[in-house]
Amino acid sequence: TSDVVRRDRFSGGPARGFLSSMADDERIFSADLAVDRAHVVMLAEQGVVDEDEAAAILSALDGVESAGFDALPDGEDVHAAIETAVIERVGDVGGKMHTARSRNDEVATCIRYRLREDVLEAIEATLGLRKSLAEVAAEHTETVMPGYTHLQPAQPTTVAHYLLSYEQAVARDTARLFDAYARVNRSPLGAAAFAGTPFDVDRERTAELLGFDGLVANSMDAVSARDFLVEVVAALANLATTVSGLAEDLVVFSNKGLVELSDDYSSTSSIMPQKKNPDTLELVRATAGDAAAGLNGLLTALKGLPRAYNRDLQNATPHAWETVDAVTEAVAVAAGAAATATWDDEALADAAGEGFSTATGVADLLAMAGVPFRKAHEMVAKAAEEGADYAALDSAAEEVLDDPLSAYVEREAVETALDPAESAASRDSTGGPAPESVAAGLTAAEETVAA
Ligand code: ARG
Repeated sequence: TSDVVRRDRFSGGPARGFLSSMADDERIFSADLAVDRAHVVMLAEQGVVDEDEAAAILSALDGVESAGFDALPDGEDVHAAIETAVIERVGDVGGKMHTARSRNDEVATCIRYRLREDVLEAIEATLGLRKSLAEVAAEHTETVMPGYTHLQPAQPTTVAHYLLSYEQAVARDTARLFDAYARVNRSPLGAAAFAGTPFDVDRERTAELLGFDGLVANSMDAVSARDFLVEVVAALANLATTVSGLAEDLVVFSNKGLVELSDDYSSTSSIMPQKKNPDTLELVRATAGDAAAGLNGLLTALKGLPRAYNRDLQNATPHAWETVDAVTEAVAVAAGAAATATWDDEALADAAGEGFSTATGVADLLAMAGVPFRKAHEMVAKAAEEGADYAALDSAAEEVLDDPLSAYVEREAVETALDPAESAASRDSTGGPAPESVAAGLTAAEETVAA
């Protein structure tokens, strides 16, 4: 056919390999077959091609599918290769498949069709992680642990409170992926090269056949738009960044002996026989860098592109595939590592009291007794220079407040405030670490993940 002849004119140059997206296109092989089928069915329904012609093309597509991606003839991309394979099977009539469309709307449709699946998988991974975090949290509502700011001991909290802090953060990542999904799930098909087509196509029908929720209506926007890729990759980069914090914490906590990773998620050294290293979590941590690079690569490829289709778009797409694969895998690994790690209750309890972590609680106690918080802060800070016990606090009270500590609060209340477990248990404000506050977060986590 003239179409094939035209392509042949451009088929042998030294830049052929450079032009080709075949290697990356394996990912959209099935998507392209689905798009071809929907388009041909619609063309037949609209009377643009005859039913027997459509039937011949559809059965050729079945043959192309069973033969598989590797059996495709050489082509500039999967769209051209499948069309050539169809023509090889059924002759010239196969050339009718490309009536009223372009590779520009075709590729945009294929990417969206495939990416829907990938986004759903990424969402599923976030749910798996949240489930792991909530399950482990449920077992540790009373397990005290040190909380840090600036990586310095700050205030006692509980393992449940800590884990749910990540569950909630990842919940927002799930929500962002669902939002992005809604905008991915729109059909550009029928936009043709960018200027629509004089054929009587039914764009809603192909959208429906392909399970899209509606159209990217403007035909120029439809072939040019890749903001849906940016949105998905940005959501993934955000997710990977969230999870990198969890990974980093677990690396640090295992270094401090507060948690032990299961062997399944650890690695060893080729020379130092005693080593048990948190390599998997380090790779989870590193994935956030890859995702940020993917987002940057994508935005840089898209920046300043003129309307309408430009081949630069071919190089933009793989950033999305690489990012979605890497982040989905990293999230699943983080879920497994979190689910199987062992928290050391005793080490956690010891560490929870280190660095006078209950100082804020003592200041709070004095403030509740009417001492201005700033003054109480000054007094406890003074005591902290000497020690974290009653005696140090008492002499600091004399010095800063001009009275013994007992003039403000009972000794027993001070001793309670100095206890890390009591400290965590007393922080029962909404969203706080007290078991009754954490219970609400736990219920919310379990309910939303199940939903
Ligand atoms: N393989 C191309 C891509 O991934 C689609 C082909 C559009 N080619 C063209 N010359 N208009 O974007």
